[in-house]
Amino acid sequence: MTGTIPTMMPDTATAQTLNQQFGIPQTVRFDDGPHGQPHAIITADDATAVLYLHGAHLTEYQPTGRKPVLFTSRQTQLKPGKPIRGGIPICFPWFGPKQGDPAAPMHGLARTQSWNLDAVHKLDDQRVQLTLTCSIDPFHVTYTVTVGTQLELHLRVHNTTPANTSASAARFEQALHTYFAVSQIRSVALAGLAGLTYLDKTQAFNRVTQGPEPVRFEGETDRVYINHPGDCTLADPAWARQIVIEKANANSTIVWNPWTDKASQMPDLGDDEWPDFVCIESGNVADNAVELAPGEAHEMSTTIRVEDL
Ligand code: BG6
Repeated sequence: MTGTIPTMMPDTATAQTLNQQFGIPQTVRFDDGPHGQPHAIITADDATAVLYLHGAHLTEYQPTGRKPVLFTSRQTQLKPGKPIRGGIPICFPWFGPKQGDPAAPMHGLARTQSWNLDAVHKLDDQRVQLTLTCSIDPFHVTYTVTVGTQLELHLRVHNTTPANTSASAARFEQALHTYFAVSQIRSVALAGLAGLTYLDKTQAFNRVTQGPEPVRFEGETDRVYINHPGDCTLADPAWARQIVIEKANANSTIVWNPWTDKASQMPDLGDDEWPDFVCIESGNVADNAVELAPGEAHEMSTTIRVEDL
């Protein structure tokens, strides 16, 4: 069962029109919510999820019988022009501050843009797939979200400059800035990063080599692990689960928690919420930024699944 093109333009998308074009009974329905932000409420056989058109932002993902996988702040602002605090913001086409333009918004334009919903498909009994697109000159971005027993995220970036021009390659950074819900940040451990180099943003971007042990959290953490095409596993013994994060064509992993002081300066995060999440972000940033020739496309993907521990 599917709902497909014509593309829903962001300025005309309301829950009512989205339901008419893309709703699937008992599986996908749309709501405007209290702040008039249209979002899909997805109920697959083995998982539920919530996806906003604002930022193509997934705010909830929960396999049946499990605790929520994603953290979203109760103080998030659901307003045009503001990013949602939590879930999975898409950082694109730059990560962090824009080089040479400190006034530009942090983490790029994609997370505050209203995306087009292009298609909704029930792939089979287990999986529901939504496809969203947006254009940020010279790029056209296609984001495919597949909700099932695991969460599959696929980001395709196309440089729309015609291939037969002499234009130079366009550079971009990208990250799926995933806020994972945890029992308590001090009790989780992150494996998969041993021996890698990271840029420590809490220490003026010093380059540090990660030791052999899993990463544990004892203070503000803001690290960009470069040249890491591999997977990570977040063990959370108090919740008897581990989250496995697999990725393809994503050579960076960013690990972030603001801890007490930074959290208290963030108006869209409750002062007591920072121990409830850790961000583990798959992407291509800093040394791993992508140079995309005219007419070319780049694809990255991430798969997130929960296992018993
Ligand atoms: C992380 C960055 O990815 O995002 C941090 O490494 C940053 O430096 C954090 O503070 C949150 O950014 P923002 O713009 O969502 O507050």
